[in-house]
Amino acid sequence: MISINVIYCIFIYISKKSKGFLITFTIIHLIHFFAVFIYGGFLFVDNLFMSKISQTLDADETAKAREAIMMHVRKVVPWALLVAVASGIYLIIKVFGPISEDGLNTFQIILSIKAFFGLWLGIRGFNQKFFKMNPFLFTSHLFPFFCVILIIFLSQIMYL
Ligand code: HEM
Repeated sequence: MISINVIYCIFIYISKKSKGFLITFTIIHLIHFFAVFIYGGFLFVDNLFMSKISQTLDADETAKAREAIMMHVRKVVPWALLVAVASGIYLIIKVFGPISEDGLNTFQIILSIKAFFGLWLGIRGFNQKFFKMNPFLFTSHLFPFFCVILIIFLSQIMYL
């Protein structure tokens, strides 16, 4: 009887722990997703629409209109990128899994490529935000825009 109780207690403990893990994972996954929405969303808006402001406004008005938006962007978007990277690092630690003797599987390879580009953007954003450093390579917003498209694409095909 005692041993059944012990087994039952262990079962409850493990299931509570795994449920706790699932809840933490789901919350951080959601945070990753929303952070990526905010960061990626800005890059889409910037490259597809804000870049067209100069078609209707003169140079001075364009600069003013852009700054009116960018002053709010600067308060939110760099943080969203950092949150995306921090939550991404948590997720990769949890889902990467052991490397088998045959080497990395497809999921691990694609995830690593995705993480490489994500970390590149993160380091670039961190340097810009905290050290006011301009990126060494690909200075325009087009580079992160294409990176985000690539990362989103990789994030979906890695499950195949
Ligand atoms: C700005 C850069 C990033 C973007 C745009 C991005 C985008 C995404 C997207 C769209 C997903 C798919 C979510 C889903 O379909 O359920 C995802 C999942 C994931 N991301 Fe990122 N991510 C970025 C940065 C990172 C970084 C830097 C890492 C790791 C170092 C990372 C690790 C992961 C992992 C491990 C998952 C999969 C979680 C699972 O198995 O469900 N991400 N990311």
